[in-house]
Amino acid sequence: MKAESCKIGDGVYWVGTLDWDLRTYHGYTLKGTTYNAYLVFGKDKVALIDNTYPGTSSQMWGRIAHAFSCEKRDIAIDVIIQNHIERDHSGALLEIHKKFPKAPIYCTEIGEKGLLKHYPSLAGAGFIISKTGTTIDLGGRTLENVETPFLHWPDSMETFLAPNGILFSNDAFSQHLCYARRYDHDVPDAFLMEAAAKFYGNLLVYPSKLLVKKLDEFRRLGLAEKITMIAPGHGQIWTDPGRILSAYTGWATGVCENKVTIIYDTMHHSTQMMAHAIAEGLIAGGIDVKMYYLHEDERSEIVKDILTSKGICMGIPTIHDAPFPSIGDIIYYLKGLRFDHTGIKRGAVTFGSMGGKGGAVKIIADELTKAGFDVKEQMECYYVPDENELNQCFEIGRTFAATLLGK
Ligand code: FEO
Repeated sequence: MKAESCKIGDGVYWVGTLDWDLRTYHGYTLKGTTYNAYLVFGKDKVALIDNTYPGTSSQMWGRIAHAFSCEKRDIAIDVIIQNHIERDHSGALLEIHKKFPKAPIYCTEIGEKGLLKHYPSLAGAGFIISKTGTTIDLGGRTLENVETPFLHWPDSMETFLAPNGILFSNDAFSQHLCYARRYDHDVPDAFLMEAAAKFYGNLLVYPSKLLVKKLDEFRRLGLAEKITMIAPGHGQIWTDPGRILSAYTGWATGVCENKVTIIYDTMHHSTQMMAHAIAEGLIAGGIDVKMYYLHEDERSEIVKDILTSKGICMGIPTIHDAPFPSIGDIIYYLKGLRFDHTGIKRGAVTFGSMGGKGGAVKIIADELTKAGFDVKEQMECYYVPDENELNQCFEIGRTFAATLLGK
């Protein structure tokens, strides 16, 4: 299809795909995203960095044709760089290899193994294993690979273009946004940072310690001060890289707002009444509140706010002597994410209503402890909370606020 590229630097073009219609991606809710691919023109060779999701390549090919026409060159891709296996970055690799079979495919060692499992017909393709420091000379312009294992898959790497100061960062620094224009300043600031936080919260919390080390390595290698633009795998391109580097440093080391995220579900509104009373206590104590009702809300949005919260409150009624099952999804997710990897143990309160033996509140407290939270208080209420019990919830919220504020 006809589609235009976006020139982002001297001899560098964005040639990715706008996926306007995507609403969920492995459980992550979104309103569209982009699969960013980039062409880098040297005097002798042209490199394509990453590509697009399976079945979405027609936009990419249109933009590639446009970029080559802007450079007044015949279409010829000489080097393929595959920074990451996952299909949203590699889904057109077979097509590209078919059109340009002589172009070597640069990826990490683990990347080659994973790509061959995803695309067995690539056996015999010209893979070149990249390590940190591997350079690719395009003629007057050299690309350099940096391994970034587990950020966020074992195979991940990034590519730096020194003359332009552009870091092609793949998933790191991404946001799942789909806007018509390509830069950070083309999007309202609050949307941009919220989308970046959501991406971090869902993909990069677990490897936060590795991220801190990698940011240190970038500084040691002298890369950090050379980066003038970060071109990620999804969403807007950062023309102000300091902004997102600073945000990542904060998220990876537990910098939080004076905020608590409340997550609850309810059967007959009793646990809901407790949630609202605890919220009033938190607010009175000087802490902001974000409220999530599991009947309607889902995990990828919730963890975005947990990332920037000093604590959480989790409420669930008891059914069959166990927690009402809707809480299981977010608990399993939190046990995998390990928010304590961000350098702090966030405080927690658990609460809920019961009519028989009860027990759900303690069960979810134990699970949150295993997930790396510091459970400060538990409150279980028999059937419908009365005024006295709602006052207790208020005081739990106010005391929790004081604890989180260090009062
Ligand atoms: Fe790890 Fe954007 O995929």
